Amino acid sequence: MNRARHIAIIMDGNGRWAKLREQKRAKGHEAGAKTVRAITEFCSRNEDIQRLTLYAFSTENWKRPTLEVEFLMKLLQKYLENELESYLQNNIRFEPIGDLRAFSKSLQHTIQNVKEKTAHCDGLVQSLALNYGAHDEILRAINKIKNSQESITKEMLTNALDCKDDVDLIIRTGGDKRLSNFLLWQAAYAELFFTDTLWPDFTTDELEKIIKDFTKIERKFGGLK
Ligand code: FPP
Repeated sequence: MNRARHIAIIMDGNGRWAKLREQKRAKGHEAGAKTVRAITEFCSRNEDIQRLTLYAFSTENWKRPTLEVEFLMKLLQKYLENELESYLQNNIRFEPIGDLRAFSKSLQHTIQNVKEKTAHCDGLVQSLALNYGAHDEILRAINKIKNSQESITKEMLTNALDCKDDVDLIIRTGGDKRLSNFLLWQAAYAELFFTDTLWPDFTTDELEKIIKDFTKIERKFGGLK
């Protein structure tokens, strides 16, 4: 039986969720943050799941209207400040991926603080992808190792990436069927699940069902079984 050790989620549909309720997009993001909390706590209680990577802000998301970007930054800061207690209680280690240098000093400080305070936790790793894009991650990795005297190996490149773990299962909510520059290296053999559910409506029951379906798939990694 397959075990979903590393699950990654493209959390899409916050804006449409708000629009359906005739609310501002910000309300959709707030509701989305509540889903982040519920899904993270569920994963922390599942012994098979070691890592949960969530696409929270992409390198392309800066193109959104300034007010929305500012709102997302404030929401993230508030989320991390409020959540520290729950990370510690649930033994969750927080490990951001992405190029954090683009964020304000204050947000960088909060991110670093939560990372340091949870570094000893050895339960679930919750990895938020922040100013993350797979192309950017791979380019930064290549630039770190390009002066090596030896030929670059798969191991060398993997170790230079922000996320060094292959992903088993990628879920995208919101109905679109694309990877949007998310974990392209790590997803080489990932199973992909797409659901029309908008992220704020995504439940632990639906996640449980996806994981159940995943466990039944025969994964061959290019070989025969
Ligand atoms: C996509 O919805 C979602 C995002 C741009 C980022 C995800 C953000 C959250 C889940 C909220 C905050 C997260 C944390 C960790 C506090 P969309 O706006 O693209 O939705 P749409 O496609 O319906 O417009």
